[in-house]
Amino acid sequence: MSLIQLQGISRVYGSGPAAVHALRPTDLSVEEGTFVAIFGASGSGKSTMLNMLGLLDEPTSGNYLLEGRNVAKLSDADRSDIRCRKIGIIFQSFNLFSHFSILENVCMPMRFAGVPRHEMHERAAELLDRVGLGSRLAHSPSQLSGGQCQRVAIARALANRPAVLLADEPTGNLDEKTGDEIIGIFHELVAEGHTVVMVTHNAEYEKEVQRIIELHDGNVVRQ
Ligand SMILES: Nc1ncnc2c1ncn2[C@@H]1O[C@H](COP(=O)(O)OP(=O)(O)O)[C@@H](O)[C@H]1O
Ligand SMILES: [Mg+2]
Repeated sequence: MSLIQLQGISRVYGSGPAAVHALRPTDLSVEEGTFVAIFGASGSGKSTMLNMLGLLDEPTSGNYLLEGRNVAKLSDADRSDIRCRKIGIIFQSFNLFSHFSILENVCMPMRFAGVPRHEMHERAAELLDRVGLGSRLAHSPSQLSGGQCQRVAIARALANRPAVLLADEPTGNLDEKTGDEIIGIFHELVAEGHTVVMVTHNAEYEKEVQRIIELHDGNVVRQ
């Protein structure tokens, strides 16, 4: 069984003459333990696809099987619950809470999942240590560089041991060297068995991944 299976998944924004077919009906699957990149020009539907995969948005049609369960049409509460436990998401702009310490930021998903306080703090510290920030636990994101913030976001995404990590242009706000370090962390995670699906328009990363999905005007033209 594939970790992810999309069957005829589409997303249309708006309706009538103003309708935008951001993602045309798409079939694809992602196997556990692979590093996948979604490529395509600006406006080709990459974020739309990632938002579907991350249950941040609902498809207009189709089935989305995550670990065999159809999650395409769920109540808001069920969608939040699955997103919290099964999916780790990393954004271009990090989306950290600037008034909280990085330890608190990493604790956040575990708080939602009801992880006991002691266990939560221990795991958050472990995850931050693993991304090289073990000596900065009490710092706030504003005291860190962009690359460090993205490391915090990766640690946070891993907090609830998700089935899949999704990243939308994770290196988009970083210089080349720092971006490469983030890709290096993804490689380590994939080597440990994690599944990473990354949206990027940086063709340099083609050689870094095991699988390429390419979008053009809402159509998957390569997979
Ligand atoms: N909320 C929205 N409402 C209307 N159109 C949207 C919305 N989000 C994205 N689109 C449109 O859908 C298409 C795909 O967008 P997007 O998935 O963001 O592309 P990418 O991430 O590849 O740049 C674009 O034409 C974009 O303008
Ligand atoms: Mg985008």
